[in-house]
Amino acid sequence: MVLGVGGFAYSTAQILKDGGACVCTYLTRDYAHYSPSLAGPVFSREQHPSPCPIIREEQIGLVIPMSIDWAQARWKEELLEMGVPIFSPTGEAMKIERERDFARQLCQRFRIPFPRAHVARNRLEAEEILEAHQLPFVIKNPFCSPTSPIHTVLCETPADTRSWLRHLDYAEGVFLQEYLGRAEAGHIALVSGGEIYSLVTNQEYKRAFAGNLGIVAGAPLGGLVERDPTDKYGLARELLHPLRPWFREVSYHGPIQVTAVQRSGQWHVIEYNIRIGVTSGAMILRMLRNPGGVLLDTARDRKLEIQFVEGRDFGCSVTLAGYGYPYVQISGPRVPVEVATPLDCDVWWNEVTRDGAALVTTGHRIADVVALAHSLDKAIAKAYSNIRRIRSVGSYFRGDVGQSLWPPGTL
Ligand SMILES: Nc1ncnc2c1ncn2[C@@H]1O[C@H](COP(=O)(O)OP(=O)(O)O)[C@@H](O)[C@H]1O
Ligand SMILES: [Mg+2]
Repeated sequence: MVLGVGGFAYSTAQILKDGGACVCTYLTRDYAHYSPSLAGPVFSREQHPSPCPIIREEQIGLVIPMSIDWAQARWKEELLEMGVPIFSPTGEAMKIERERDFARQLCQRFRIPFPRAHVARNRLEAEEILEAHQLPFVIKNPFCSPTSPIHTVLCETPADTRSWLRHLDYAEGVFLQEYLGRAEAGHIALVSGGEIYSLVTNQEYKRAFAGNLGIVAGAPLGGLVERDPTDKYGLARELLHPLRPWFREVSYHGPIQVTAVQRSGQWHVIEYNIRIGVTSGAMILRMLRNPGGVLLDTARDRKLEIQFVEGRDFGCSVTLAGYGYPYVQISGPRVPVEVATPLDCDVWWNEVTRDGAALVTTGHRIADVVALAHSLDKAIAKAYSNIRRIRSVGSYFRGDVGQSLWPPGTL
């Protein structure tokens, strides 16, 4: 059972179904319900206030959450008590994503480079921190949740930060993290049975427009992954392996993703996530020979045997964004989505639905087009040749995925 909506739930359920699993989705949000239904049964919160009775009745053997918000749900305790394997760390271990200052303290404890950072409760405190340090601070929520009052604002100068501090909702306070530049990369691993298993190194194209221009959108406009069990770029060695004692302390088992920025030749942790990610997840699962088995073994905290599918060394994901994106306050009518010629790579529909025979948009992110290949160039070419076959008025995509920020450390 996937806990989620949209392209994440659709891709996860469909890939596991392709591997022989029986799949369904518990819809955790009130949008993007149609696409997961293409893979299997879906259950809405309105009709099912809790997924627990369904898990019992359907004898669900694995739960895969899309985000960490399930741990805030009323039915969380019941789910944990049922003992169903969950593909996510639980309890204390979740704090590495949920609480940014906890992640900072962990890094300090294990001597992992982390940008200078401060928590402020209100605007006055935030402005005092800025005056005292005179650094460009990126503005973040102290507690990560899809419903946070603050979304990351990427400020690049102290004056940028000063402007934005006047424009925030301080209900949960603010986390100020020194801006370290643009040389970013990510790495995703599984932690199970006390060991760390590297899967991929990845890049996300987070800015809304080609050339890495515009705002950091709510979700990336594109992504790359490279199969990387030997940790070619050293991100796991520098930023994940030092955490091994803590992983064991809290019986961490599940995915771990680190986002990092390189400055002066040194990688620094920007944040940790405890998920395989909305963009990378669909590529990682397609790269694994037995994704269902690997996820289940991880959820059970077992030793892992990870095998990759030959010829799927690289993945490229390009998002088709609809009218108004990335300024999601702007919305349009439901408009048609037309597919010209048959597609020959994965297309994970997101905010679309059926209207009679037609496919129509229901929101801002229409689909992620995902291709895998033995080379990066082939994966990129295939994703673009497919996304060009989809037409929807007012839509756009970034035409430059893979042309910057790769290999890791490059601008
Ligand atoms: N301290 C920083 N220095 C440079 N870039 C940053 C920094 N913090 C965040 N960013 C940029 O903003 C993006 C989103 O920030 P992140 O901490 O990952 O928050 P979110 O929870 O929104 O994913 C990062 O992927 C990175 O591109
Ligand atoms: Mg992030």
